[in-house]
Amino acid sequence: MESHSLLSFTVAFLGFLSPCVTRLAPRVSFTLGSPERHVTLFNSHDVSNTTTLLLSEDGDTLYVGARDAVLALDVGRQEAITMRSKLDWRPSENDLEQCSMKGKKMVDCPNFIRVLQFLNATHIYACGTFAFSPRCTYISLETLTMTSPKPDEGRGRCPYDPYQRNTAIIVDGELYTGTVADYRGNRPVISRHLSEGSHVDLKLDDTLGWLEDPTFIRSNFIPDEEKIYFFFSEVGREYDFIDKFIVSRVAQICMNDVGGQRTLQRRWTTFAKAQLLCQSDNELPYNVIQDIDMLPPLEGAPADDTLFYGIFTSQWSVNSGRSAVCSFRLSDIKSVFAGNYKVLNRDTLQWSTRVQEKVTNPGECGLHNASDNALRFVKENFLADDSVRPVGRSLTMVCADQNYSHLAVQRVQAANKRNYTILFLLTESGYLQKAVLLDGGAHIIEEVQVFEQPQPVKNLQLSISKHMVYVGTSEGVVRVPAANCSFYWTCAQCVLARDPFCGWDPTKRACVEVSNTQVYLSQDIDRGNVEEACNIVPISHRTRFGPDNLPAAGELVSVALNEVVRLQCPSVSKLSHQVWERPNSRLSSELYLHLEDGSLCFVATPATLGHYLCLSTENGYQQTMAVYQVKQKSSPTTQTPVTSTRAQTRPTPTTQTVAQPGQQTSAWIWPQRTEPRQREPEPSSSTSETRLTTRHSAGNLTKWTGNFARKDAELRDGEPLLLAQGSCYLKELIIVSVLLVLCFSVLITILPSVIRKRCRTRTVPQAATPARERRSPVEQEALRGGQFLNNFNKGSEHSLHNGHASGVVCNGALLKNSNGHLPNTPI
Ligand SMILES: *[C@@H]1O[C@H](CO)[C@@H](O)[C@H](O)[C@H]1NC(C)=O
Ligand SMILES: *[C@@H]1O[C@H](CO)[C@@H](O)[C@H](O)[C@H]1NC(C)=O
Ligand SMILES: *[C@@H]1O[C@H](CO)[C@@H](O)[C@H](O)[C@H]1NC(C)=O
Ligand SMILES: *[C@@H]1O[C@H](CO)[C@@H](O)[C@H](O)[C@H]1NC(C)=O
Repeated sequence: MESHSLLSFTVAFLGFLSPCVTRLAPRVSFTLGSPERHVTLFNSHDVSNTTTLLLSEDGDTLYVGARDAVLALDVGRQEAITMRSKLDWRPSENDLEQCSMKGKKMVDCPNFIRVLQFLNATHIYACGTFAFSPRCTYISLETLTMTSPKPDEGRGRCPYDPYQRNTAIIVDGELYTGTVADYRGNRPVISRHLSEGSHVDLKLDDTLGWLEDPTFIRSNFIPDEEKIYFFFSEVGREYDFIDKFIVSRVAQICMNDVGGQRTLQRRWTTFAKAQLLCQSDNELPYNVIQDIDMLPPLEGAPADDTLFYGIFTSQWSVNSGRSAVCSFRLSDIKSVFAGNYKVLNRDTLQWSTRVQEKVTNPGECGLHNASDNALRFVKENFLADDSVRPVGRSLTMVCADQNYSHLAVQRVQAANKRNYTILFLLTESGYLQKAVLLDGGAHIIEEVQVFEQPQPVKNLQLSISKHMVYVGTSEGVVRVPAANCSFYWTCAQCVLARDPFCGWDPTKRACVEVSNTQVYLSQDIDRGNVEEACNIVPISHRTRFGPDNLPAAGELVSVALNEVVRLQCPSVSKLSHQVWERPNSRLSSELYLHLEDGSLCFVATPATLGHYLCLSTENGYQQTMAVYQVKQKSSPTTQTPVTSTRAQTRPTPTTQTVAQPGQQTSAWIWPQRTEPRQREPEPSSSTSETRLTTRHSAGNLTKWTGNFARKDAELRDGEPLLLAQGSCYLKELIIVSVLLVLCFSVLITILPSVIRKRCRTRTVPQAATPARERRSPVEQEALRGGQFLNNFNKGSEHSLHNGHASGVVCNGALLKNSNGHLPNTPI
């Protein structure tokens, strides 16, 4: 009775956790250099650190800021990226000497180009770190030469340190920047340069708290608003409960700002900032912004519909290794800036919501003629009281096992003329993932590896007109086509990919780019329903194994009795689920092990000889992936260990190698000799490999050919034999169950104390100590919510995973056990 209630508690407990364990996996993964997903690399022995990217309007030239050079790359041709011209711009020996005398590492002293922007129709404006003494220059687009006799001073425009992040944007010939403006890196500033006439250069006032040790991410210009928005992270001093709580911010300035007349002279009068909150209800916030990109509204839609998609990570170790994507709507940002502001008490250094009367609206454009009183008010009221919440008040997507560093967003019109949002996400480990945002959540269509070594500085640039993505790293510039539709060789694959770029052309029988054709295409982005989109009649068990369709053919697998047989099932998608079937017989879990890679393991007995069919199910659609016929070897001599020394290495079929039209695909088995009483079958020495080939046809159903006119292909019914062995298992089943219950009770008594301990250690930011006494409601909310769940999550996920893993090892205890207890196996 007691164990029963315990068990039901456990089940309820696990059921409660399971929704949190959902993982987003890319459907297909391509490693660097795989022919199915060709990437073009530009690199050159005399060029390095190609990390600042600027694409020409026509998408044919990519300007690259590199180390000691600015390059113009011809990216208009399919085959290769070539260098059109190169401008060398390096510090003198003297500059370098001074740089290293100031204590900087020589490798950081060159001129790393960090600002590269179109100034007007004929010129680019570029700035570089220039031996920790930043400089800027005008470059002619036509000749790629400097046109100013002497470079400009780059202070406030470009960082000194090449590893410091900065942002810069030129609008109407004026340069807006966010960077640190001193050698030591502790004077951050948002400023305007290259202004003319009554438009003067502006910068931030030195007022306490305008910026608090920020990391600048990006800036965007919204034409309808005549505003520039800056995105950055900084120390959130309004959260005084913890030493260095990082918050993400959006800040705004108006382009028509010219500063005040007495108060705020040559200073912004329109600067305001607000917190960007990437948080779902019961979790800790993903508080550190990594990158953000703007998605302009649809043609004809108001500017308020502009969206910003950002990548956020967490400063807490609970969420380390995870990143979240959140989207923010411009209208929400605007209404936060139009609301109340916080004020800083200069004596206590405490922030509070303003109670005094509003003198003017901070953040409003056109304050240049305002009274000193109004400007003083603006100067003190720049932190919006409210936070900008994500669209739908929830995270767009969370990736549990990847840290994203950069993203680019675009809208793609699918075959049904509906628009879909596509995110290109660059992972720290060097993969470019492509995700489509659907009503039910994100679907990661694929990932393509673009670099191998971790890159401290990198950049992503989307060419929407040419359907290309560029990634700039220290190793070079990589170009990846937004899609390779011809990789999907059947209608089913094309539809299951759910890639808005790709649709199935039924007349050409090919998966083609949607934008290149006007004909009808089969596609179903929202549901991925193959049967509907491809007009396929589903195959039922009956038709598959009906009297006429009995799979008399299949790959022949000859085994000796008592051998361990492993049948492989090729997988084309990481989202597919493999099931094995036998005609007229269930696969009892006592005799068959389903391995995690989709293959099937069992001991050859008279009951297990016969036909096996592997079916792959993805999104409700089932395809036959492999058919085998397991048969007893005719010659008993093959049982001798002579065969067992061959081939220890196991080839793992990857998605790339599997099943091209008309290509040969390989399936492998490892018939394994197992002595009935042998306790530890050594996997390597007793393994022999038989390689068999199977053929895939281009159709949706796999056809199998073989030389099977044999009479001994008769199918045996496994059921009676399994039943006969049932009693042997009953005892063990009871013992195992009792042990399991015991394990669970131990786990449940130990867990709470472990969790309490972990909670205590994990609520603290990685490098900070908590100020436990005073906690604001915000903080409590932040800390309470997700903490518990997350710890539980991690723990349970881990143990579940481990349990699972040990259960499926082919030579592992589970199998050994059932092996050893197959008493007097017939024959
Ligand atoms: C696209 O995939 C096909 C089939 O896998 C391959 O032959 C082709 O080279 C690929 N093209 C690119 C540009 O990656
Ligand atoms: C672009 O700016 C440069 C530098 O200020 C100037 O010399 C050039 O005349 C400008 N070109 C046009 C077309 O305005
Ligand atoms: C400021 O006000 C003065 C008169 O009060 C006016 O002449 C001037 O044009 C105004 N400046 C701006 C930039 O609006
Ligand atoms: C420049 O590239 C080298 C490798 O070529 C790398 O080690 C270094 O970190 C890069 N520096 C910057 C500032 O990107």
